Amino acid sequence: MTLDLNKDFPVLKNDNLLRAARGEDVDRIPVWVMRQAGRYLPEYQEVRKQNDFFTICRTPELACEVTMQPLRRFDLDASIIFSDILVIPQALGMNVEMVPGKGPVFTEPLVTPSDTVKLNATGAVDRLKYVGDAITMMRHKLEGNVPLIGFSGAPWTLMGYMIEGGGSKTMSKAKGWLTKHNEVCHKLLSLLTDVIVDYFEMQVKAGAQLIQLFESSADYIDKEQFAEVSLPYVRRVRDQLRKRLQDQSIEPVPMILFAKGGGHSLSEQAQCGYEVIGVDYNVDPIEARKAVGPNVTLQGNLNPADMYLPEAELRALTNQMVRKFGMKRYIANLGHGITPQTPIDSMLTFVNTIHNVSQELRFNAGN
Ligand code: CP3
Repeated sequence: MTLDLNKDFPVLKNDNLLRAARGEDVDRIPVWVMRQAGRYLPEYQEVRKQNDFFTICRTPELACEVTMQPLRRFDLDASIIFSDILVIPQALGMNVEMVPGKGPVFTEPLVTPSDTVKLNATGAVDRLKYVGDAITMMRHKLEGNVPLIGFSGAPWTLMGYMIEGGGSKTMSKAKGWLTKHNEVCHKLLSLLTDVIVDYFEMQVKAGAQLIQLFESSADYIDKEQFAEVSLPYVRRVRDQLRKRLQDQSIEPVPMILFAKGGGHSLSEQAQCGYEVIGVDYNVDPIEARKAVGPNVTLQGNLNPADMYLPEAELRALTNQMVRKFGMKRYIANLGHGITPQTPIDSMLTFVNTIHNVSQELRFNAGN
C-alpha cells in the first residue's frame, strides 16, 4: 500500500501540470514562470520594503503571501514555493545576505579546501524545516486550485555560489577549484547531493507535488565538465530520492531538471530519469525534442528579454514557441527567470497567448 500524502490537503482541481509531466493528455498546456513571485510585482516590492529577503523565506505566512501574489493576477497552472536556492548553504552554516541592487553576498565564502570542514551537514535538513512549514501552509491556502512546486539548487550551482561568494560573471574561482582541488570538489558535490536528497524528501512529505532542480550555473562549464560535475550528481539526486520515497511507500512526485546553459547535453540529461527537462532560451524546441526523444516532457523557453517587446511581437514569438513544442509533453515557461523590470502586461500577454494557442491546437486536434 502506498501512503497518500494528499489526503490531508484540498483536492487538486487543475492537474494539467502533473499530467503534462507524466506524459498524459491535458485540457490545456500548463504554464508557469520561473521567478513568477518577485520584484516585477509591486505587491512583492511592498512586502519586501517591510522585510528582509530571507525573513520572508523563513516566515511561512510571508512566504505564502508572496507565493500567492502572481496567482491573483495571472491565470497560471502552478505555484512555486517562495524561497531561494541559497538556503542550503545557510543551513550548512554559511552566512548569506541579500543585498538590494547586488544580489546574494556570502560574508565568508569558501576560500581554501580547509574551509569545507566547517560545513555542518548534520541536521541541515532540520534547519530547513521552515520551507516545509511554508509548503504545508501553502497547500491549504491554494485550496487545490493549482499544484505546488518545491525546488532546490543543484550541487554544482550551489558549490559555485559557495566558492564565489555570490553571483559571478565567470565562475573562475569555482572552476579554479575544479582543476586545483578536484577531489575536494567531488567530496563537496557529494555532500551537497546528500543534503538535497534529504531536503527534497522533506519537501515531498510537507506537500510539494512536483520538484525542480535548478542547475543555473551550467552556463559556465563546457560539455565535458558538465558530464563531470553536474550529470552524475543530478542523477544521484533523482535515484536516491526515488529510492528513499519507495522505501517509505510514498508515491514519487515528478521531477524537473533545469540546467541553464546545458543545451549541449539534452540527450544526456534525458537519461537522468527526470520526467521533465527544462530548456533555456538558447535551445530550439524542435532540436530539443529530437535530443530528448518522445518520453520526456519539455519545459520552456521564451527568452525573458522578449518580455520587453511590443505586445504584438511578444504574442507572435510566444505563439511560435508553443507551436514548435506542441501540445504533448509540454509545459510552457520562460527560458530563465523573469526579470525585475518586466511589464506586468507582458506577463498577461504571455500567459493568455499560451492559453489561446492551446485552445486552438486542441480544437484542431478534434478534441
Ligand atoms: O517565484 C519563484 O520562482 C520562487 C522564488 C525563487 C527565488 N529564487 C526568489 C528570489 C526561486 C525559484 C529562486 C531560485 C534561485 N535563486 C536561483 C535559480 C534560478 C535562476 O534564476 O537561475 C538562483 C541562481 C538563485 C540565487 C539568487 N537569488 C540570485 C543570484 C539572486 C539575485 C539576482 C536576482 O535575480 O535578483 C537572488 C535573489 C532573489 N531570489 C530574489 C527573489 C525574488 C530577489 C531578491 C530581492 O527581493 O531583493
